[in-house]
Amino acid sequence: MVTNKVETALNKQIEFEAASSQYYLAMASWVETQGLTGVAEFLYAQSDEERMHMLKLVKYVNERGGQAVIPALKEPPKKFKSIQFIFEEVLKHEVLVSNEINRLVEICLKEKDYTTHNFLQWYVAEQIEEEALARKVLDKLKLIGDDRGGMYLFDRDLPSISVPAQTRSKN
Ligand code: FEO
Repeated sequence: MVTNKVETALNKQIEFEAASSQYYLAMASWVETQGLTGVAEFLYAQSDEERMHMLKLVKYVNERGGQAVIPALKEPPKKFKSIQFIFEEVLKHEVLVSNEINRLVEICLKEKDYTTHNFLQWYVAEQIEEEALARKVLDKLKLIGDDRGGMYLFDRDLPSISVPAQTRSKN
């Protein structure tokens, strides 16, 4: 059974994951209209991952005797300044989510909820990978700069850029 404090904190995290999924979906859709199909594919996949993170939490909260709340979400932007800007936002967002996960871990320790603490370790590891991936993509974009040929190759290759298979999210 989760305590009220843990339940509330987990529900807050459900909202974060849902908002991430929605935000990345908005990015994917805009990028697709710019003709960058590889970048769009990458962002659609990121959006799916976030939805999976959300679902995993929803099921966990319900399994542990709480009630998962499905939140209303703010409409994400329709347009973005640039691809560089998008990935800066992705990194910023992932750092924010990591901080939230850490806060959640702290609450579990205070509440002596070692089961949820254990459950959250998967998210701790996942966040390390997600931040690393966003940094990797940003490094590549810095190298490309304004080179259009470089952007063509970036778009072609991005769907195959990933982090080590053993740490990819599965459920
Ligand atoms: Fe599920 Fe990337 O935070």
